[in-house]
Amino acid sequence: MKDRQNIHGSWANRWIFILAATGSAVGLGNIWKFPYIAGENGGGAFVLVYLLFILAVGVPIMMAEVLVGRRGRQSPINSMREVAIEANHSPKWALVGWMGALAGFLIFSFYSVVAGWVLAYIAGMGNGDFIGMDGDAAGKAFNDLLADPQALLIWHSVFVVLVMTVVMGGVNKGLERATRIMMPALFVLLLVLLGYSMTTGAFGQGFDFLFHFDPSELSWDAVLVALGHSFFTLSLGMGAIMAYGSYMPKKASIGSTVLTIAALDTVVALIAGLAIFPIVFANGMDPGAGPGLMFISLPVAFGQMPGGHIFGFLFFVLVGLAAWSSAISLMEPAVAWMVERFGLGRMPVCIGLGIVVWLLGIAALSSFNFGSEVALFGMNIFDFLDFITANVMLPLGGLFVACFAGWILNKRITKDELAITNPTLYLAWSVAIRYIAPIAVAAIFVLNLIEKLG
Ligand code: TRP
Repeated sequence: MKDRQNIHGSWANRWIFILAATGSAVGLGNIWKFPYIAGENGGGAFVLVYLLFILAVGVPIMMAEVLVGRRGRQSPINSMREVAIEANHSPKWALVGWMGALAGFLIFSFYSVVAGWVLAYIAGMGNGDFIGMDGDAAGKAFNDLLADPQALLIWHSVFVVLVMTVVMGGVNKGLERATRIMMPALFVLLLVLLGYSMTTGAFGQGFDFLFHFDPSELSWDAVLVALGHSFFTLSLGMGAIMAYGSYMPKKASIGSTVLTIAALDTVVALIAGLAIFPIVFANGMDPGAGPGLMFISLPVAFGQMPGGHIFGFLFFVLVGLAAWSSAISLMEPAVAWMVERFGLGRMPVCIGLGIVVWLLGIAALSSFNFGSEVALFGMNIFDFLDFITANVMLPLGGLFVACFAGWILNKRITKDELAITNPTLYLAWSVAIRYIAPIAVAAIFVLNLIEKLG
């Protein structure tokens, strides 16, 4: 058995890994994106499909990513290559790592724009801008922000600098400590917000919207969105979890660790939905409002609560922190690879890559103002980046990782890394990674294509 060392460092223990990976998983995907796509896709039926994907596709693939990362002990690109070679297969599997690094850049570019909105709202809440606002005024405030490229550029730039500063510090410093403080705080605040939304009088309506299963609401499009989101929210399909897995201590069990991360991530998304929808309904707003949902409904609620602006300020600070700990994992795979490949320090690498994502982010933010006319496949740049990553690149990356772990790696390697002693559990993982995950992903792609063409 090979036991490689990772030159970038490793997590102090299993819990640090769980917290760091949860920090990657829990982000804008949970608090901003999940509620609004659930709203756009009809609620309950979408949520059920999403939960099924998390369990049947997301969890086994996350285990596969951690397994490959820990086996390879390098950046995803080099881990894929090394582990493929160990299994007597083509080093070309490294291409999966390359596609992942590219997806990371593309996701970062629109992620940073949204994180910028969050930063702007931190400032606005701190100013008391939203006190007493109704839904219309909040909608206008959000649209005014989007129409102002200069403001968006400033906040986007601040976010890029924040993220790059941490990635520069490396694996152990900064990130580890920040997650440890941040995650429990996020939980507490979400629970308080949930408590508030229970008092709005529309909690039942919001609950019903999220959990009432009506299959007639379900379209193939919604199934694709649910699949894509299960990858996005768990940070799968681009190597983020593989990179984090490469820093994982050898003794920790992969199965229970991954289940804990997936459970925490799901709970945060559901609580965010339960906190936001009652507020939306109580204020007569549209649950299908799209990306503005969190930025319009929550400020209204905060603006009407006694002392709500302080609370709103804290809420957006925490959303910002969640986004920040996630965005770090979007850059880590590429940064680790550059460090390995060119023997450079993290500082020049982070500055160089930071400039690249900063420029990409400008293209994304222009979608809301001076670049709103630019269309790619009928979408603006922002929507296109979101679509091509979440709904195409991540599921494809996941498909490749599943095939790699299920069919290319032999049992000796997977059994050794996963160290599952219960044969039934190992069998369940094998079936999921060899059949369920690849077939589900491939089938949904094909069916969607047929529907789009038909
Ligand atoms: N999971 C994060 C969220 O839900 C976003 C994210 C971070 C991500 N790293 C990723 C998504 C890697 C896909 C791949 O906000």
